[in-house]
Amino acid sequence: MKVVAFNGSPREKGNTSIAIQIVFAELEKEGIETELVQIGSNNIRGCNACSKCKKTADGFCAINDDIVNECLKKMYASDGIIIGSPVYFGSVTTETKALIDRSGLCARAGGYLLKRKVCAAVVVARRQGAVSVFNQINNLFILNQAIIPCSIYWNMGIGKNIGEVENDEEGMKTFKVLGENMAWLLKKLKA
Ligand SMILES: Cc1cc2nc3c(=O)[nH]c(=O)nc-3n(C[C@H](O)[C@H](O)[C@H](O)COP(=O)(O)O)c2cc1C
Repeated sequence: MKVVAFNGSPREKGNTSIAIQIVFAELEKEGIETELVQIGSNNIRGCNACSKCKKTADGFCAINDDIVNECLKKMYASDGIIIGSPVYFGSVTTETKALIDRSGLCARAGGYLLKRKVCAAVVVARRQGAVSVFNQINNLFILNQAIIPCSIYWNMGIGKNIGEVENDEEGMKTFKVLGENMAWLLKKLKA
């Protein structure tokens, strides 16, 4: 079993990455393979509404000069997906939004290729906007018939500078429990 995570922060080893690693640790304890893909510092274009994905219906995007098709391949090959983003002006980062829109549309057009994958959002904020970003990421999963495991709170951590999220005890616990529940659910579904 495998879970792929996409880090939408341009800070490759920042708070979002740290939070994802907390979830990964629980998955790995249960023998689930993990892979972290850095998208935040990549040039990813937004959806250009060409609707070619609906015509080809192959689950991939007509824009082929960035990493989105590679991300889609990794999503389709995985049993679980995590999308992590810091809060930027109350929203996901630009790169995260581009991934959400294009992967969401292509997967739907390909015949709901994310259906019943176990999917979760991971969010870090300095102070405000985490629930909104949590919802924005979950929209991708909800509109694709994914299955969303829960934790003890919204999947969010608090921190500004790199590493500060580790001081958020409740946030760390939330990510740990998310990892436990994600592993539990994956194992049940694959049993
Ligand atoms: C352009 C920009 C906008 C931000 N907007 C918000 C915001 O709206 N709310 C908030 O709580 N934090 C905001 N932050 C702070 C980040 O969410 C916070 O520093 C987070 O820990 C960054 O995660 P990272 O280390 O994974 O990049 C913003 C940071 C930047 C660079």
